[in-house]
Amino acid sequence: MFYAEELVEEIRTKNDIVDVVSGYVRLQKKGSNHWGCCPFHNEKTPSFSVSGPKQMYHCFGCGVSGNVYTFVMQYENYSFPEAVKMLADRAGVNLPEVEYSEEAKKKAGKRARLLEVNKEAAKFFYYQLRDPHGEIGYNYLKRRELSDETMHKFGLGYAGKSGTGLVQYLRQKGFEDALIKEAGLANYSEKSGLISQFWNRVMFPIQDINHRVIGFGGRVMGDGEPKYLNSPETPVFDKRRNLYGLNFARTARSGNIILCEGYMDVIAMHQAGFSQAVASLGTAFTAEQANLLRRYTDSVLLAYDSDGAGVKAALRSIGILREAGLTGKVINMRPYKDPDEFMKNLGKEAFEERIRQAENSFFFEVRVLQEQFDVKDPEQKTKFHREIARKLCEFQEEVERDNYLQAIAEKYFIGIENLRKLVLQYASQTGLAKPIERPKSGIQSKNSPQESAKKAQRLLLTWITDEPAVYQKIKSFISAADFTEELYKLVAERLFADLEQGQFNPAGIISMFEDEDKQSEAAALFHTNLPQLETPQEREKAFHDIVYAVKKNSFEFYSSKLGADVSALNQVVEGKKALETLAKTHISLE
Ligand code: GTP
Ligand code: MN
Repeated sequence: MFYAEELVEEIRTKNDIVDVVSGYVRLQKKGSNHWGCCPFHNEKTPSFSVSGPKQMYHCFGCGVSGNVYTFVMQYENYSFPEAVKMLADRAGVNLPEVEYSEEAKKKAGKRARLLEVNKEAAKFFYYQLRDPHGEIGYNYLKRRELSDETMHKFGLGYAGKSGTGLVQYLRQKGFEDALIKEAGLANYSEKSGLISQFWNRVMFPIQDINHRVIGFGGRVMGDGEPKYLNSPETPVFDKRRNLYGLNFARTARSGNIILCEGYMDVIAMHQAGFSQAVASLGTAFTAEQANLLRRYTDSVLLAYDSDGAGVKAALRSIGILREAGLTGKVINMRPYKDPDEFMKNLGKEAFEERIRQAENSFFFEVRVLQEQFDVKDPEQKTKFHREIARKLCEFQEEVERDNYLQAIAEKYFIGIENLRKLVLQYASQTGLAKPIERPKSGIQSKNSPQESAKKAQRLLLTWITDEPAVYQKIKSFISAADFTEELYKLVAERLFADLEQGQFNPAGIISMFEDEDKQSEAAALFHTNLPQLETPQEREKAFHDIVYAVKKNSFEFYSSKLGADVSALNQVVEGKKALETLAKTHISLE
């Protein structure tokens, strides 16, 4: 841990979780919690709850949980020290200067080192482009009508013809070969040792939403293959979860996001003033990227290439946007190939007009569909109408489906009632589209004995956090050692120690862990779904069952270790007695 625990706790308490999350998610107060649509998975109805009293959040849809640190780490893609720094700034708390000893550097972890080496490589490429040796690259970008300012804004660079220049530079800056290789900046060759991955290319540093360089795309000079070469996936470069240009687009506040296919398209758009443009990273658009966009907008405009491949890619992306609950529209780029060429030839105003005329994605799909049929042939025409009916069934909401049905019927001169019949026919044959599956929550219980034991431990911890008073009634039976899951035990130790001192602070316990996944797992311990029970008798029985199950599991766990571990003996003897007593004891919840 970089910072003292008290300081971490002070910063946490000075950043109210409802305030912080409200900066990212629209929340509504209901009862003692605030609710909103979860920013970490697709949903249209709110299952994401933020509790002011508990200072924690939990999503009942996908299972994410945590305190204010976890939230910032998950949302901003920050490490724990980075989250501490951001929230300290937000609350006006001064952080002590941290001395980065060799030891601390190691601790800062692989991620931080990979980001450092990327940043240094980006600097190297940047200076190469502006050096006489980089003239080829610079002239190329000039020919493509980029201004110096634009090249600077995107940190564009050039990888020279030497295969070792970058490697030498990075070694000199103190980076080990293994790290340079892991960052995807160079590869080993038998003959020449470590040599650059990028060679005679203009370089596009790819930044995450916080402007940190996570990878590179490089465009070849001339007609070589491949035209674009990207960094491989690394622990900091996840191509499915990042978008080129989003670091700028996220603050564009234009009411929409424009999704392009290429880096050059994004840059040309930004240069023309459309700073809401982004592109995927040399791979097809993904559901994760749609999710990311949903944090910033509900309207996405596709500015894909106008050729066949572009239309195909657009159709794919439309489906993904729709599943994410985003409205998609398609910008017509004709007669030009892509936004870059469009901008050069017709300019900004013409593009603004194209944005206004952008086609509703459903109309776009139907128009493309129509091209597959010869509608002068009655048989083909019928097939076309059936296909339309099939597509209409993808709308689950009746009002929406019917509005589209009316609009399409009018547009393609189909009788409304006939089309309705077709839809009904299709729906009754196949059932309407199934609800989108929610991502696995990780808290759904599988029914193995081990899972049930874990579940009982979680239920008990949640129950104690909801009603801290019950701790006093069970502490003669249950101790932290009864939590056989390592992480649960750590949480219980801390929770019970706090309760012994009359303190109760579950959100603080979470920041014991620096790892985001562990934080989330610990926080989920306080958010298990407790059984909904009506009568006090039912509640008492359920509570007794849970306590008994935890103790029984603990007894069995230590019994199985008896042979190898003498210290287990105490637990076994104590456990046996406690189980016998528990069986006869009524625990009142009054
Ligand atoms: P320019 O010719 O520089 O204008 O390219 P473009 O921006 O028109 O790109 P193009 O439509 O050819 O490709 C769009 C995007 O697909 C690029 O920005 C790259 O991310 C990716 N891409 C293109 N060619 C390749 C390739 O050969 N390999 C890989 N991995 N990605 C490519
Ligand atoms: Mn192009």
